[in-house]
Amino acid sequence: MKKKMNTATIRQSKGKEPLVMITAYDALFARLFEESADILLVGDSLNMSFAGKKDTVSATLEQMIYHTEAVCRGASNTFVICDMPFGTYPNKEEALKNAMEVYRRTDADAVKIEGGVEKAETIAYLHANGIAVCGHIGLLPQAVRGEGGYRVKGKSSEEALALMRDAKAVEEAGAFCMVVEGVKSEIAEEIARNVSIPVIGIGAGKGVDGQVLVFSDMLGLFEEFTPKFVKRYMSGAELVKEAVKQYANEVKSRLFPSEEHTY
Ligand code: KIV
Repeated sequence: MKKKMNTATIRQSKGKEPLVMITAYDALFARLFEESADILLVGDSLNMSFAGKKDTVSATLEQMIYHTEAVCRGASNTFVICDMPFGTYPNKEEALKNAMEVYRRTDADAVKIEGGVEKAETIAYLHANGIAVCGHIGLLPQAVRGEGGYRVKGKSSEEALALMRDAKAVEEAGAFCMVVEGVKSEIAEEIARNVSIPVIGIGAGKGVDGQVLVFSDMLGLFEEFTPKFVKRYMSGAELVKEAVKQYANEVKSRLFPSEEHTY
């Protein structure tokens, strides 16, 4: 059986083998991912792929706690990070209250917070109070309404400098790792070279210390749109639809249940 990682071994993985992170939202899939994933992220992306909402902004703490509990139950031998949803960390006190709620009610090993320089004080406060924090810089899905859309970061030298400042601030605040999302690959690589904690990329190229993908994207279950950085490792939606169609046909034609499936 694999050895469960912790914040120390995650930090120590820097410069060695890339970290494998994947999102998980329930016990069923978490159990299936456990063998191959180093880290499971209960991302607020569940608000889109599972709850059918248009973005992550309306996810609630209750929702995240419910899903995190389930993931921890399904994959008790894997490091689990719970995404702090929008509006639950507007200041350091509120952030600590809500992160403690996550720790109290789930077995999550860490929380994730979106933001760089502007969230450094909050990250430092959580860290000082015993909460393990994964940072998240670059394209910030929770800022989508404020920014008017999703946009790749690091295209100008000003943006590249700002990203580097964000990365340094998150590192110095005490985060044990950080997600870098939607960033030009050369900038993401430069960030990874300049910080001592693992940088886990999503849409950030291969010059970083690990990768994360949203599971419903990489399994081809979420069909609405596929960003350029997503590789589909299976055609999940087609397989599911085909199986359900076959079931429906067999029910209608009374082929199912056969003798084999009857008491
Ligand atoms: O919510 C999520 O799934 C995430 C990943 C995109 C990193 O934050």
